[in-house]
Amino acid sequence: MSKLVLFIYLAFFCGGTVLKAQSNKQIIIATKNVNLVFTVGANNRVYQACLGKRFLNQADNSLIPNNKHEAYIAGGMEDLLQPAIRLIHSDGNPSLELRYVSHTTKNSDENISETNILLQDPKYSVQVILHYQAFSSEDIIKSWTEIKNDEKGEINVENYASSMLHFEAKDYWLTQFHGDWASEMKMQESKLTSGVKEIDSKLGTRADMYQTPVFFLALNKPADETTGELLAGTLAWTGNFQFHFEIDERNALQVISGINPYASAYKLKKGETFTTPAFIFTYSTTGKGQASRNLHQWARNYGVLDGNKPRLTLLNNWEATHVNFNEKELVGLFDDATKLGVDLFLLDDGWFGNKYPRDNDKAGLGDWQENKAKLPNGIGYLVKQAEAKGLKFGIWLEPEMVNPKSELYEQHPDWILKLPNRDENYQRNQLVLDLTNPKVADYVYHTVVDMLTKNPGLAYIKWDCNRSMSNTWSPYLKDRQSALFVDYTLSLYKILDRIRQKYPHLPIMLCSGGGGRTDYGALKYFTEFWPSDDTDPLERVYIQWGYSNFFPALTISSHVTSWGKQSIKFRTDVAMMGKLGYDIKVSKMTDDELQFSKQADKNYNRLSNTIWFGDLYRIISPYDENRMVAMYVNAEKSKAVLFNYNLNTRYKEVFNRVRLQGLDSQKKYKVEETNLMPGAKSNLAENGRVFSGDYLMTMGLNLTPGKLIPLTSMVIEINAEN
Ligand code: GLA
Repeated sequence: MSKLVLFIYLAFFCGGTVLKAQSNKQIIIATKNVNLVFTVGANNRVYQACLGKRFLNQADNSLIPNNKHEAYIAGGMEDLLQPAIRLIHSDGNPSLELRYVSHTTKNSDENISETNILLQDPKYSVQVILHYQAFSSEDIIKSWTEIKNDEKGEINVENYASSMLHFEAKDYWLTQFHGDWASEMKMQESKLTSGVKEIDSKLGTRADMYQTPVFFLALNKPADETTGELLAGTLAWTGNFQFHFEIDERNALQVISGINPYASAYKLKKGETFTTPAFIFTYSTTGKGQASRNLHQWARNYGVLDGNKPRLTLLNNWEATHVNFNEKELVGLFDDATKLGVDLFLLDDGWFGNKYPRDNDKAGLGDWQENKAKLPNGIGYLVKQAEAKGLKFGIWLEPEMVNPKSELYEQHPDWILKLPNRDENYQRNQLVLDLTNPKVADYVYHTVVDMLTKNPGLAYIKWDCNRSMSNTWSPYLKDRQSALFVDYTLSLYKILDRIRQKYPHLPIMLCSGGGGRTDYGALKYFTEFWPSDDTDPLERVYIQWGYSNFFPALTISSHVTSWGKQSIKFRTDVAMMGKLGYDIKVSKMTDDELQFSKQADKNYNRLSNTIWFGDLYRIISPYDENRMVAMYVNAEKSKAVLFNYNLNTRYKEVFNRVRLQGLDSQKKYKVEETNLMPGAKSNLAENGRVFSGDYLMTMGLNLTPGKLIPLTSMVIEINAEN
């Protein structure tokens, strides 16, 4: 390679500003395809030299020029952009200098290596350790920071990023995901301009309701599903987060990810250490699709509880009954669940409270005893009845919250987050419990564990959280109020840790009035999440498309309900691209609809391994066309499932043939439409025929044969011939 070509190559992939030839110590963090390199300068500061594609020959790392971007900028010194860390020492000095002391790299196994870089202030006993865990085959790097105070007095840490990364590209394109209740994960892409762009949350409990802690950052030009160079990042934190993007005067970009510093300065006494949550990222040179597949694979292997294990299909009663039900009606609904063929019945909100019965959302929250009028024989009876019908039984809980109209509130008014001298502020008529108080944390733990101990057959929990924090003050924290947002989340994790010690594999759905709480900090304790209360399938196409960018299909609970006027087939086909469930009055179904649904459930059982554990190829975005096409392909490339949804299509709208992706070009595949209504025949010209993977990926399929009808869909099974 000529010197000029080498220079362009390095500048392109590693974004390096050339200062002088590399001669200093290097710290290399690498996965199968991604390279993150730091250098230690002559001044003993650590600099990010390169983040990008791994070299074909890693010896080329030694050629990387030195770079001026300090790896973890500390506030109060000469760098005047946003710092990764800023703290006030016990003597009031607001500066920090981080000098390299040492680093270690250890392999935990063949796939994971962890590099720790120890930094120390020369004048103060403050240490910072930068942790980088590299997951080789998934191309994921997980980074977090430890801050240790060994000064005599207390330090006040105001900014404490999980990660700081630097880029040098011509342009930067940010894709973010925002929304609200019932309209989660709307995708938006914009070009970053000079100065600051922040995506953050200050909502506390339901931290992700308006902005989700995930983003894509494409370099030079916008990335699409199959092309473009980009970073995909997410913060594993179930609380306030902040992504800070700042383009400086030389068009370099720094990205700081971590807990939102807003109202969250954290005090550390002598000997105390603060550990930030992890920022998880991947780097792709082949578009968003590959970045998502990397994240999905990592999530199944490491990020989500039992990510490699099958999930349960279920019938939930929320849409069918809301809080108005009794024991007899519920047992009747069990028959509906068996008719559909699902694995589990999930009893939603409304089953508890006696002094203040939970007959609407104004009362009862916090009083987790079965309501005697509705359930005279208790949960245990329901578990047994369900089991007798071959079903598992699960239950809804919202253990972090309380209605003022509850015995819990009456008994423990000091267990609630509220400003002492202001009016209580309600969302959904409820308040948040003060989880920073160990007694309250214990109560929440026992709410869950006692319920499971008393009813050993209980097989599933839906853990809800229906409000964010406002008017927030902890009676327990006294003069340490700025620790509240952080300590709340840490306490929640401790409770979940304790529950998981006792019940390591119990499936639990993470819910927050829909997707108000969706992040990898929580998902290590949960098996799935509720993406949105909006189950209108047209809306769900967009919502599920959004989540699919960062979360694998088996975590995305997708239920067939009566929202929307679309056919049962369209509703079911949309739900089948995630973790299928039902929340519907089966008694209202026509014979055809019921017959279809029973068959669909059987089809799902046959296809779910490919959907849950396969690689996702998003082929046509609903943001680009009036349709959405995506397919899952198993690891062996022997089975694939394709979902095609025609959305609000126009009269005579023309759609091109669709080239499939991810197949083995050498293999022969049989193409078969499935999930047809009883008696319906496929219009697909290729139906029942065999094609090479090469043909399917080159010529593709005409997915809109015949008349184009809005809100119609197709599920196609693609199986390799032996
Ligand atoms: C939230 C959930 C719903 C349902 C209700 C019950 O809004 O998202 O699915 O469980 O609470 O009150």
